[in-house]
Amino acid sequence: MPAKIVVVGSFNMDLTAYMERLPRPGETLNGRQFVTGPGGKGSNQAVAAARLGAEVTFIGRVGHDVFADSALNIWKQERINTEYVVRDPEYATGVAPIWVDAQGENSIVVVLGANLAVSPADIDRAADVIAEADILVTQLEINYDAAAYALKIAKEKGIVTILNPAPAGKLAPEVLALADYLTPNETELEVLTGKTGVSVEAAARSLLTRDGQTVVVTLGAQGAQWVNQSGTGQIPTFPVKVVDSTGAGDAFNAGLAVALAEGKNLTDAITFANATAGLCVTKPGTTLSMPRRDEVEALLKRN
Ligand code: RIB
Repeated sequence: MPAKIVVVGSFNMDLTAYMERLPRPGETLNGRQFVTGPGGKGSNQAVAAARLGAEVTFIGRVGHDVFADSALNIWKQERINTEYVVRDPEYATGVAPIWVDAQGENSIVVVLGANLAVSPADIDRAADVIAEADILVTQLEINYDAAAYALKIAKEKGIVTILNPAPAGKLAPEVLALADYLTPNETELEVLTGKTGVSVEAAARSLLTRDGQTVVVTLGAQGAQWVNQSGTGQIPTFPVKVVDSTGAGDAFNAGLAVALAEGKNLTDAITFANATAGLCVTKPGTTLSMPRRDEVEALLKRN
């Protein structure tokens, strides 16, 4: 039986410029290449989970424009259930201008449009499919109340939840408590905790609000560190040539969700997530750089 994953999240059309180095304020630079492609943290996670073999339902909003058509095309291509996607009558589809330098590092601006119109009522309409999921995954690129409500509904139904707190902002303690897994990167961890100059473990531990919660901090080339009531551990990642790091966190979250839904233990699930993210960064683009299951299995086997 494939893992059943519900993603409540964003879609953005990514407008990516590749360049030698990122511009300074006030500077004009020549770019090497410009590419448009599907993106958005939620949609990236949904596509990655589908490519890893999960049965995926996406809950979100797009507008009535050509970017929305691209979203619907990619979801159809990846066999994602879009029954609960709303075409918003008022707002445009989200867009994300992205800069990527020669080292594969990126800077992203999101103009969220229809993503911010996702509402608790959208979640209510999908209550039955949430009740049947193995895992619900959400992020903070949609309306905050809707993301919090999705976590609440999932927990009421006894469903495991992953909150990818990106982009990071302050989270109410009662919302934090609804996440079984919280997956910030190091920058997001700092914003969430307000703590600098302390260890990753100490900062992550300060986010735990109850038993049964785990914080998994993604550390780029250093892999990921988990922290929960029973301890902490760092799981190394795989040596790869980084071409474009955009979407690595999304690949990681999808890998984690699928592996946990399939019953893998935490260490194996993080290893699987590291492999998914590791492969994602070897290709340009975001959604389109998400690896398929056989590629992830092959990388795990080689290592
Ligand atoms: O995580 C990468 C994503 O962040 C991009 O696809 C962009 O749309 C922004 O949401």
